[in-house]
Amino acid sequence: MKAMSMYTEKVMDHFMHPRNMGEISDADGVGRVGNPICGDVMYVYIKVKDDRLADIKFKTMGCASAIATSSIITEMARGKTLDEALKITRDDVAKELGGLPPIKMHCSNLAADALKKAIEDYRSRKK
Ligand code: FES
Repeated sequence: MKAMSMYTEKVMDHFMHPRNMGEISDADGVGRVGNPICGDVMYVYIKVKDDRLADIKFKTMGCASAIATSSIITEMARGKTLDEALKITRDDVAKELGGLPPIKMHCSNLAADALKKAIEDYRSRKK
């Protein structure tokens, strides 16, 4: 119980009930990042329509914070233009969750980085 209490309710909610988990088989862009600190891996899949994120899903093999941050970033990014989505920072993600324990801040890097990579992937495919 003690370990759980370092997390806000919102983190626990997104960890226990992740939103938009899964894969988009015909994704327009895919971002993959690994966390060098812990070895966890995350994938973000996006569908783009009229320069907006029409759909976004994630697959995360990682800790509770990594799953919660990926879940919430899908909600934050959906419907945004690509440029708006690129502006979502690690801090935005942590803030949206009501904060993360300091030793878990590195976990929030994954979600923001994976989203950026997915958008870069989409843009490079279009060229
Ligand atoms: Fe690996 Fe959190 S411990 S992402």
